[in-house]
Amino acid sequence: MTTSTWTSRGHLLDLETLSSAQLRALVDDAESFLPIVQGTMPDVPMLEGSVIANLFLENSTRTRVSFSVAAHRLGARVVDLLGSSSSTSKGESLVDTASNIAAMGVDGIVVRCSASGGAALIAEHVEVPVINAGDGRHEHPTQGLLDLMTLLQHFGGELAGRSVAIVGDIASSRVARSNLWSLTAMGADVVLVGPSSLVPAEFESIVPVGPDRGAVSISHDLDAVLESVDALMMLRIQFERHDGDGIPDDYRERFGLDVDRAGRLSEGVPVLHPGPINRGLELAPEVADGPHSLILRQVTNGVAVRMAVLAGLLASDG
Ligand code: CP
Repeated sequence: MTTSTWTSRGHLLDLETLSSAQLRALVDDAESFLPIVQGTMPDVPMLEGSVIANLFLENSTRTRVSFSVAAHRLGARVVDLLGSSSSTSKGESLVDTASNIAAMGVDGIVVRCSASGGAALIAEHVEVPVINAGDGRHEHPTQGLLDLMTLLQHFGGELAGRSVAIVGDIASSRVARSNLWSLTAMGADVVLVGPSSLVPAEFESIVPVGPDRGAVSISHDLDAVLESVDALMMLRIQFERHDGDGIPDDYRERFGLDVDRAGRLSEGVPVLHPGPINRGLELAPEVADGPHSLILRQVTNGVAVRMAVLAGLLASDG
C-alpha cells in the first residue's frame, strides 16, 4: 500500500482545495488498502503506538465506526468522545475541547461538529493532524472521497464527461458540497436536483468554471434528468436542520427514487446514498437494496479511504 503527496497539507479539512491529482492520489492510496478491508490481506501496523481521538459532537454511525475500524486495521488505538457525554454539553467551546484532547498527547483528531468551518478552526489551534468528519453544512471530505472512489471503480477509472445527479436536500448537505468540488475536479458534470427550497440558485456558481472542470447545473424536475444522467446520488432529507421548513408535502412523489423511476434508469446507472437513508422517502427500500445500488460498496470503500487518510497524515507525521 502507498501514501502520497497530498499529506504535505498536514490536515484533511475539505476537498475544495485539493487538486484532481491529489484526489486521484488519495483514491489510489485507498485502493491499495481495500484488500485489507475485504479480508484478502492482513492488517498493517503502520500506526502502531498511535492514539487517535474521535471527537464526534454530532451523531454518526458510518463515519465514526469507519474511522475506528480503519485505525484498528492500521494498529492505532482510538478514544471516542461523543457530544452527549462531552463537556461541550456544559458549554465548553469546540476549540477548548479539542485543545484539551490534543494536550493529552493524542496523535490525531477526527472531528464532526455542527459548526461550518469547525474543523479548520481546530486545526489552527492544535499541533496534530485534524480530519474533518463533517462540519455543519460545509464539507464531509472523506464521504466525498469514498463517493469518488466508488464512482471511479464503477466507471473504469475516469469520470470526465460523465453526468452525476445529486438529488435532494442540497442546501443542508455537506456531502453535496464535497462532491461538487471533487466530481467537477475530475471532469464530471453535476446536476443538482430538488425543489427550489432545497436547492438554492447560488449552488450553480459555487465551483469556478475551468477548462478541465465539469459544469454544475440545477434542475427542479427529477423526471426530466432521470434518463440522461450516468449516476444518481440520493441525499437524506435532514429534518434536524430544517425545523420542518422547505420540504414540500409532495417531496416523495416529485423527488423520491421509487421503483417506477428506478425502472427507467439504464442498466449501468448506479445509485448512491451516503446514509442514513430515510427509506420510503428519498429512496424506496427496493431500490436501496436493488441492482442499481452501490450503497454498501460505498461503506466498504469508506474504511479504505479512512485508512489512506489516517496513514497518510499520521504515518508521514511521525
Ligand atoms: N454518511 C455519513 O456521514 O453517515 P453517518 O452520519 O452515519 O456518519
